[in-house]
Amino acid sequence: MSLLRGCSTGCISVSMLQKLNTAGLTGQDGGTAVTADTSLTTSVLPVPDSGIKQPSDLKYELVCTGCSSVYLEDRLKCDSDTALLRTNYSKKQLELKSVPGMGRFHDWLPVNDIIKTDSGPVTFKSTELAAELGLNNLYISFNGYWPEKGGFIKTCSFKELEAFPTIGKLMGSQKSLVLASAGNTARAFAHVAAMKGVRVYIVVPASGMARMWIPEEPNRNIHVIQMGKNCDYTDSIHLADRIASLPDMQAEGGARNVARRDGMGTVLLDSAVTMKRLPDHYFQAVGSGTGGIAAWEASLRLVDDGRFGMKLPRLHLAQNLPFAPMLNAWEAGRHDIINEIDMPDPKKLIHEMYADILSNREPPYSVGGGVYDALCATNGEMYGITNNDARKALELFERLEGIDIFPPAAVAVAALVKAVENQEVDKDEHISLNITGGGLKRLEEDFTLYNIEPAAFAENAMVPLENII
Ligand SMILES: Cc1ncc(COP(=O)(O)O)c(C=O)c1O
Ligand SMILES: [Zn+2]
Repeated sequence: MSLLRGCSTGCISVSMLQKLNTAGLTGQDGGTAVTADTSLTTSVLPVPDSGIKQPSDLKYELVCTGCSSVYLEDRLKCDSDTALLRTNYSKKQLELKSVPGMGRFHDWLPVNDIIKTDSGPVTFKSTELAAELGLNNLYISFNGYWPEKGGFIKTCSFKELEAFPTIGKLMGSQKSLVLASAGNTARAFAHVAAMKGVRVYIVVPASGMARMWIPEEPNRNIHVIQMGKNCDYTDSIHLADRIASLPDMQAEGGARNVARRDGMGTVLLDSAVTMKRLPDHYFQAVGSGTGGIAAWEASLRLVDDGRFGMKLPRLHLAQNLPFAPMLNAWEAGRHDIINEIDMPDPKKLIHEMYADILSNREPPYSVGGGVYDALCATNGEMYGITNNDARKALELFERLEGIDIFPPAAVAVAALVKAVENQEVDKDEHISLNITGGGLKRLEEDFTLYNIEPAAFAENAMVPLENII
């Protein structure tokens, strides 16, 4: 049911509220809409009948980054356009909670209960890699297992930061979560779902199955569907969409899911809290670019907070060549990806990638509030990293920092090396380097890992659903 009376969709656009206000139809006693812009301003909404939760009690509302419509209930899409919805938290200053893990960023996570886990990003000032690159303020945000540094993400990637809030929202409902993943996301969601007692249907391309392990015995909550050999991540997305349309299934939503984005945004929050200021630069390897959008949104909140500085960090987002559709569109100065130009023969290109997990044929690049907008707003930059440069960066990082990392994280390290060479960063500037995954070798010293066996096989995205559910 809508929280706003007289509005069947549960939404009220800011311009509507402003018109009402100008016409004198709402007054002080009425509780009037104030303003909103596409970033993060507060709306005070008309007081509804008793029995309905007061909007002012809400932890957050969703604001469309395209038309500024405000929604008080969770949803994935705006009624009027395709732009991303963004959380606008009522709490403007971040108060860290005294809990371990990502739960300390509770104020800016779209969940009501504090997330209880030791899993979270850890940020520390680099000495070895920093010295090698001649940087005085290089901070590494490590997302993986490295207990000596306080890193306890046991599925070893920042995808777990998306899984906790997303699954947290579904707990207690009878719904099953449906998602597609090339590996790291699948593992993260399987692990958290198994722990929290939420059922998940995960569609995984065959190439991702090797990454399907978790650090505990898989239980009945995990239902993995393995796709045929010729299918890639995008085929998995299409099959997952079909499954999600069945009753009692809930699409996880990908980049449209604010719980995912705000979960990933904790990496930037952790960097800023550690540095006691916003970084000047943020480096990340991207496939969908959702982490980049999340970092931008987290920075907007920190600017609004007022204690971390006013300048948004520049986003430095890296793709692994030869599959780099966002890089190609960005370098051509285009707002849209043109498939024939930016990713000709995608399956062949993806096959040639070192960090093949960074392959997404439908990234949220041109969508309102997406990667293109994030790059424009932050004076951002994109990088194309060869397999060879990524391998060299992996060796460099592991040797200097003393922990194993995943290939995508090495792509980010290679982008940083390139940025230093091209003088895109100054030696004294504050840099946040998102090591999006690592510590698997370290984890294997402490834990037994269990492979998740597929519950069903799907030769392609159009198989009859009754054969696989
Ligand atoms: C380890 C790792 N790094 C980076 C990425 C890219 O993340 P995104 O493009 O969704 O921000 C992924 C995606 O799966 C990943 O698993
Ligand atoms: Zn809209």
